Amino acid sequence: MYKKLYLLLIIIVIISCKEEKKTLGNDNNPTEAKVNELLAKMTLDEKIGQLNLRGTSSRVKGGLSDELKQSVRDGKVGAFLNVMNTEYVDELQRIAVNESPNKVPLIFARDVIHGFKTIFPIPLGLAASWNAETVKESSRVAAVEASSSGIRWTFAPMLDIARDSRWGRIAESPGEDPYLAGVLGKAYVEGFQGDSLNDPTSMIACAKHFIGYGAAIGGRDYNTAIINKELLQNVYLPPFKAAFDAGSQTVMTSFNETNGIPASGDKKLLQDILREQLKFDGFVVSDWNSVIEMIPHGFAKDEKHAAEISVNAGMNMEMTSASYENHIKELLKEGKISEQQINNLVADILRVKFRMGLFENPNRDTNNSGDLYAKSHLELAKKAAIESSVLLKNKENILPLNKEAKVAVIGPLADKPREQLGTWTFDGDKTHTVTPVATFTKAKANFNFIEGLSYSRDVSENEFQKAINTAKKSDVVVFIGGEEAILSGEAHSRANINLPGAQEKLIKKLAATGKKIVLVIMAGRPITLTNIIDDVDAVLMTWHPGTMGGPAIYDMLYGEQEPLGRLPVTWPKTAGQLPLFYNHKNTGRPATSEEFVHIDSIPIGAWQSSLGNTSHYLDAGFTPHFPFGHGLGYTTFEYSDLKLSTQKLTDANTIEATVTVKNTGSKDGSELVQLYVQDVVGSITRPVKELKGFERILLKSGEVKNVSFKIQVEDLKYFNSDLKYGVEKGDFNIWIGKNSAEGLKGSFVYE
Ligand code: NOJ
Repeated sequence: MYKKLYLLLIIIVIISCKEEKKTLGNDNNPTEAKVNELLAKMTLDEKIGQLNLRGTSSRVKGGLSDELKQSVRDGKVGAFLNVMNTEYVDELQRIAVNESPNKVPLIFARDVIHGFKTIFPIPLGLAASWNAETVKESSRVAAVEASSSGIRWTFAPMLDIARDSRWGRIAESPGEDPYLAGVLGKAYVEGFQGDSLNDPTSMIACAKHFIGYGAAIGGRDYNTAIINKELLQNVYLPPFKAAFDAGSQTVMTSFNETNGIPASGDKKLLQDILREQLKFDGFVVSDWNSVIEMIPHGFAKDEKHAAEISVNAGMNMEMTSASYENHIKELLKEGKISEQQINNLVADILRVKFRMGLFENPNRDTNNSGDLYAKSHLELAKKAAIESSVLLKNKENILPLNKEAKVAVIGPLADKPREQLGTWTFDGDKTHTVTPVATFTKAKANFNFIEGLSYSRDVSENEFQKAINTAKKSDVVVFIGGEEAILSGEAHSRANINLPGAQEKLIKKLAATGKKIVLVIMAGRPITLTNIIDDVDAVLMTWHPGTMGGPAIYDMLYGEQEPLGRLPVTWPKTAGQLPLFYNHKNTGRPATSEEFVHIDSIPIGAWQSSLGNTSHYLDAGFTPHFPFGHGLGYTTFEYSDLKLSTQKLTDANTIEATVTVKNTGSKDGSELVQLYVQDVVGSITRPVKELKGFERILLKSGEVKNVSFKIQVEDLKYFNSDLKYGVEKGDFNIWIGKNSAEGLKGSFVYE
């Protein structure tokens, strides 16, 4: 009897939980009750207002316009972006919560992408840290700093898988790997949102851009994406799933179309995938004008049609354009959309506002100074820059430098406080940036500085001779170049990703002096180095390292710290190889070095033949310049003894894969041990390798450690061609090693 009652109780609880979102006045779910109560009081105009995300840029010159204030007073705005004057933030919120009909608070949003005032490395750099803790802590700092200006919503993290370095926004991406992107996506959300959404320093996250923005054809920004359903599920969605599971309250639709449908009007994407499959329960915001951009896409015939499509797709909040504001009423009258749909769209937004505690505490917390540029923030920024920097090459261990050596610091980015911050750093104050030259100067290092080129695209050779003379008088050249901040980021794709301007030319001239050259690159993407790689002895990729780039670079150059980063993207030899990524498919004719025929080896007058018979470029081959996961430190490691606890994986057991790692160098150091798995035969073809785990270890010189990874069935699941998520019986290979191209190999069977 009691058993039955107990069962009944459980069933009731389950049902009521399921219903909680949409049940009017449900006392068991106070938030939902409040949402419904409020919704019932709101007029249609106010509801439409909640769906508006307004920019202020053109309307606040000379103060907040009366028109803008009136629209808030009338309840016609749900959120603002880019209100950067705290007085305006306070005033607009005051009007919203005191004078608007139902006193619904506003949310203030901003692109706080890799720091607010204290700027951390660009997201691609942070991804190179492979350190979720650092990503989480830096996002927390960003939230603390930004919330002091009233910003409680950031348009980050960007979780677009990017496999083409020509794309300017690769700088903002987590790189090419869905597993790493998922680990970092979760960390970003946890950091931005903090422990509680209603904490005044919590900034709600926005996973973006949903979906396929990074798959733009040819790396051309805003361009078409063609993504089959298997790739969508296995590659592009997992980082978003991780962010939603971590509680991301918002998601942004992307500008692009995928398979013919622009994201802001894609009902299947926004309902079946986002809400049903991924269980997202926050609200969807469009990208800047992306609703009305469905017109040039050729998907909507006019603004009204665009609004109809987006409402029907379930797109909650429209950024900057005003198709909802202008047309929802008319569309309702015509029966093209329903009031229930509008209620649902608004409820999603109100729910988040309640969760943020805005109804109780709508105002900017004036006790929160944000600790802008606090010592701890700067220390974290420096740590992050070191963890993000990837040492690509270090011939004859030229790095670290000897402190006695006389250094010629040359290059257009050696002393550029603004440029080293990178893309999306509107709030970073360059006067707080510490450049490499400032650091060398402060440390009284034995160096001379001459730019040689005054900005990264500079083609003037006027200063070359001075640079060469300085090099000649020195023991070693540290050339700090790359790309200015503006060369990556939104709408800044490049077809050629060499060092811009005359940098290669200058490097070659410096190399001709016979001096050793250390190339430090600050850039928003991998830079093809084929033309100059043999002219330089070391290459340190720091991405755009942020406020504390200078001290980080100084410490790495002189060996106070070793660079800790590992590539989160495959580094191409030439842009012609792009898109390029390690987790590709094998093809029927996989490329091998044995069969590869280089263009210069083809006999003159050769008869047509499928020379080499494999999938490669005659001139660029098939290997990248540096593989995904690559990165050197100041010591060396040897891997041995890969052991699997069993070679049979079942639903009931786990495999423990253990490898022995030895620090074989003379310095203490750290290694990022990486685990890759291949599902050899699938009902659809599977990637040649997939990252499934990684662990950083610290080893003293000569020290030996065992590193173990657990592999379970869950780790091997994927979506097959019927979109069935599961694992298929058969053979698997595993590798544990220092990057995606090297590693000890083992195998097991799942049965
Ligand atoms: C357009 C960008 O695509 C998006 O990422 C950004 O958040 C918005 N503009 C707002 O600035």
